[in-house]
Amino acid sequence: MAKDSTLQKMLADANTRGYAVPAFNFSCIWDFQAIIEAAEEERSPVILASHHSVFDRLSGEICAAIGTAAMEKATIPMVLHLDHSSEVDRCKKAIDLGYPSVMIDASSLSLEENIAQVKEVVDYSREKNVTVEAEIGRIKGNGYEGGHDGDDFLAQVVDAKELVSRTGVDSLAVGIGTAHGFYVGKPEINFTRLREINEVLDIPLVLHGGSGIPEEDISEAIKGGINKINVGTIIHCTLMNRIRKELMEKGENQYTLDITRPAMDEVKEVVRGWIRTCMSDGKAD
Ligand code: 13P
Repeated sequence: MAKDSTLQKMLADANTRGYAVPAFNFSCIWDFQAIIEAAEEERSPVILASHHSVFDRLSGEICAAIGTAAMEKATIPMVLHLDHSSEVDRCKKAIDLGYPSVMIDASSLSLEENIAQVKEVVDYSREKNVTVEAEIGRIKGNGYEGGHDGDDFLAQVVDAKELVSRTGVDSLAVGIGTAHGFYVGKPEINFTRLREINEVLDIPLVLHGGSGIPEEDISEAIKGGINKINVGTIIHCTLMNRIRKELMEKGENQYTLDITRPAMDEVKEVVRGWIRTCMSDGKAD
């Protein structure tokens, strides 16, 4: 049975109107706030994604608290999301803490184990109307999920169908050639496979590894059935590089906000650009 959650409504609207909802990874309060400001100003629905390492190191409690406050204050559709949790228990903890959306990424395991873990999280999520994302195939790149030979990262249509029908998961990240981190050369995205998967499934599909994908590929991905696009690396790199530049110019003993404000403004420009690439600007109203 499909859930009636805020995120499911956001993704359904994206599907109907031909855009994608951007999911931006935050790693501190300053990029978190910059993402919100840009999304509010662009009137774009937005997903605030805490990678599992941010959830663990900042603590789930803190992430949930700032996410909940942000969602309550927002004048646009906004959802806090746990990104790439390979642990069922972390997903359950996030759900208990009030996350409205979680990803269980068991794509490194066998199909049977992937299905078992996704099913456990989906069953746990039902009562609280929490949206669950799973992954099939692998997202390449930078050692995190990298190290793939040939086409072994590629999502298989039969596997996608089997996982979705046996778990009732709400959305699916598909390994079609995108990678986490910056690309070396042009990404080789298998749009044929994307369309094949989209044809047999009627749930939203998710594209990971947004940073560095050319605009025309994003547009083709949206046409091929992608409703959510994850963008991370470019956010933290923009923030950190600008902080470095400001400190180099201004020297030691600066007040935090004098350094982070220009860095946040630069992150905002990047977020705005991605919102327009996803064509989600103006879709909040
Ligand atoms: P990038 O860091 O490559 O933009 O990917 C982000 C992502 O897919 C998070 O799940």
